[in-house]
Amino acid sequence: MKLSSSVIPADPTDVYAPDAILDPYPHYARLRGMGPVVWLPRHRVYALPRYAECKATLRDDESFTSTGGVALNPISNRLSRGTTLASDGAEHSARRKLLAHRLLPRALRSISETVDEQAAAIVDAAVRRGVVDGVADLATALPSAIVPDLVGWPRDGREHLIDWGGATFDVLGPLNGQAVKAMPGTVRMLRFARRVIRDRTVLDGSMAHELLCAADAGTLSHGELPALMVDYIAPSLDTTISAISNALYLFGTHPDQWQMLRDDDTLIPNAINEVIRYESPLRGFGRKVARDVEIAGTTLPAGSRVLVLYASANRDELEWDDPDTFDIRRDAGRHLGFGNGAHACAGQGLARLETTAMLRALLHRVDRIEVTGRPTWAMNNVIRRHERLPLRLVAG
Ligand code: HEM
Repeated sequence: MKLSSSVIPADPTDVYAPDAILDPYPHYARLRGMGPVVWLPRHRVYALPRYAECKATLRDDESFTSTGGVALNPISNRLSRGTTLASDGAEHSARRKLLAHRLLPRALRSISETVDEQAAAIVDAAVRRGVVDGVADLATALPSAIVPDLVGWPRDGREHLIDWGGATFDVLGPLNGQAVKAMPGTVRMLRFARRVIRDRTVLDGSMAHELLCAADAGTLSHGELPALMVDYIAPSLDTTISAISNALYLFGTHPDQWQMLRDDDTLIPNAINEVIRYESPLRGFGRKVARDVEIAGTTLPAGSRVLVLYASANRDELEWDDPDTFDIRRDAGRHLGFGNGAHACAGQGLARLETTAMLRALLHRVDRIEVTGRPTWAMNNVIRRHERLPLRLVAG
């Protein structure tokens, strides 16, 4: 088969450079303007910046595989062996079946009251203080209080969880300075998970406990458990912290949208979709091309890699009217912020539950969210979230 990669436009700039991490949207717009497939010579990967090709790629997991890992560097891909994220076909289904059912809306019903109570307590404390950091005092508090218990991470190992989780995303970019700096964190998380399984210190009744029981019963080997535990603990905090803090920032800077939500709280599910569309917590992940395959008239050779840019797809003007406008009434449900196809986020039910609880608690108590200073963004190859977000909550 004749390959047409010679006609694919190339972009020499680095979408993982610090300025592109801090302000990625002009870079995404440039890539989308260049075409549906853009060769990034620095990272030796074909970027997919538009919605249609991202979605089609995520839905064709036979041509675009995750087995070799979804990072843009071989070291992280090796470290992610044995995870649900980095597997395909029957192996992927078997791994996903072990735990994903615990995060479906029906299974989460039993904790929804607790989540609402915790969210109310967190917002009450923040309202009493008035001036808060939206990241530390609001967005981080709920996921940290809920998710490690659910996954079963022992109480004595939690002080590093956010750093290690962030590092586990950071290393999924190319092997740049960021990723190298983050490597020890991700190795420590994996080592800690191995120790937790070896010492059987997972919390009773938790997801990890269910895995341990399955291994004791011979359904899978104990050696498989640490990777499966990391699968769920690594993305459980930073992602949701991003969604909640982005919501705070967007409603703080769009008071009309906040008022609209206050007037009609049935808009909450769609508002969450719009937050995830507008500021996607994950920038993008890679796939390996399993066989020569055509995308938008271009043939990509087997063995090459593509970068599915969820965050760019979610701002694609070919898919969305006025994509750079934050509007909670638009039909945002088809965004790719939680991925799509076989690997679509297994934890999205939980992320939605937590974000809903926080928004509801805020709606009941807060007239206005004011951004009182310059927010800063965290430096991470994959996660887009605020580092600091100075806010004043004006009570109703
Ligand atoms: C707003 C919050 C979240 C966002 C935006 C998000 C986003 C994503 C995305 C884009 C993927 C697809 C990966 C791919 O295409 O290869 C994914 C997969 C996954 N997510 Fe999430 N996630 C969030 C929260 C969570 C939470 C809270 C958990 C668990 C507690 C979780 C667990 C997972 C797992 C296990 C996978 C792998 C699924 C598979 O490979 O079959 N996520 N997530």
